[in-house]
Amino acid sequence: MTDQAHSRNSQTREASTCLAIVLAAGEGTRMKSAMAKVMHEVAGRPMLGHVLAAVAASGAGRRAVVVGPGHEDSAALARAAGAEVFVQTERRGTAHAVLAARPALASEADVVVVAFGDTPLVTAATFARLIDAVRGGAAVAALGFHAADPTGYGRLVERDGELVAIREHKDANEAERQIRLCNAGLMALSGAEALPLLESIGSANAQNEFYLTDVVEVARARGLKALALVADEAEVQGVNDRVQLARAEATLQERLRIAHMRAGATLVAPETVFFSHDTVLGRDVVVEPHVVFGPAVVVGDGAVIHAFSHLAGATVESGVTVGPYARLRPGAVLRAGSKVGNFVEVKNADVGEGAKLPHLSYVGDALVGARANVGAGTITCNYDGFNKSRTVIGEGAFVGSNSSLVAPVTIGAGAIVGSGSVVTDDVPPDALALGRGRQVVKPDWATAFRARPENRKKKS
Ligand code: UD1
Ligand code: CA
Repeated sequence: MTDQAHSRNSQTREASTCLAIVLAAGEGTRMKSAMAKVMHEVAGRPMLGHVLAAVAASGAGRRAVVVGPGHEDSAALARAAGAEVFVQTERRGTAHAVLAARPALASEADVVVVAFGDTPLVTAATFARLIDAVRGGAAVAALGFHAADPTGYGRLVERDGELVAIREHKDANEAERQIRLCNAGLMALSGAEALPLLESIGSANAQNEFYLTDVVEVARARGLKALALVADEAEVQGVNDRVQLARAEATLQERLRIAHMRAGATLVAPETVFFSHDTVLGRDVVVEPHVVFGPAVVVGDGAVIHAFSHLAGATVESGVTVGPYARLRPGAVLRAGSKVGNFVEVKNADVGEGAKLPHLSYVGDALVGARANVGAGTITCNYDGFNKSRTVIGEGAFVGSNSSLVAPVTIGAGAIVGSGSVVTDDVPPDALALGRGRQVVKPDWATAFRARPENRKKKS
């Protein structure tokens, strides 16, 4: 292509259309898993989901994922995240994998970002730096890091502030192996140049693969500029096995803890609290030690989550107290100022403002009115082995301890349920319901019982 053709081509490209191609065709055999590697979760989200979210947030309006044959789960996740899916039928190297997305590459993007699906911690800001480097005139911007142990990584060979080559470890000479600046694998390419550059890459190397990394030398041979940007090793760590998966989890948890504390939550012992990637905490939330957040939890201002609680899919409004030892399952909504105390499990239930479930209860498929008080040990019997049914507890109702509310059932507003009741019929507002055996008292019966000859204590 002539220079004129290049510039004409660039002009027809939209000023800021970025395409991201995420490589996810890895076999992941070292995970020893029935799942594709990129589907393994970090902070409650598959690695591929993290990468797609980061490239989208960095401004990649169009996203493509290259999967291996039969990787239906990865493909479905990619589509759900708004990405196109391409299949690399043979594993012939990273450049070959990028070219599997040829129809997307032939599009009008001004920048093409290449990311790896098994490198889940790279931030949108880092992808944005790569994109900016290309918009600033580089044809190739590669991401590097200073490796504690560079063995196995490609090395970034720089001269006069420019990147001149990326040499795979297996192809590197002794001098190149001394370089500690390693290739993270991610790069951004000029959209106008990407396809012709990638098509010129050959496979004459130690692994007979088409290396994406060779794009640097190919670009320079055409007089184009390549640059290296540097990121933290922790940010660009890749995951090949479950030990590295746990390391990635630890790094991300640390990042999430710091972000929540900086945003105004108190974590009493941050290293013991585990977040989901999407946990939302308001200001002045206090999270005591050993709390686990599953996906989709939102906690309002000033709420306190006491120690050893587990929350997933729950909404906790402001001023609520939860736990210690509480379990909030999906669909639990705790309205402002309500309280869910120790050893209480709440599932798919709306707990009204100021309502209290202080101890040892199971409340599922229920509506608990404002200011209702649900005594210790109360159970909503929501499941008959076939169907789930609803329990409604009216505003200000009082359910005595150790009651079983057999759903479907409604306790009217202001009603009282005597403790130990099994409630099978609806209770009208302001009524008293007693659903238990009547107590029988037999005076002196115990004395007479002990006096029976067969019950006298034997002397030993
Ligand atoms: C790659 C880089 C290396 C870098 C290292 C960082 C190349 C040639 N080498 O090496 O410079 O230091 O990452 O971890 O790019 N993939 C496919 N199809 C293929 C081959 C790879 O989809 O045919 C995907 C993999 O699933 C993975 C990524 O590309 O997500 C990297 O491939 P991998 O084989 O792990 O490359 P490395 O040898 O680690
Ligand atoms: Ca790798």
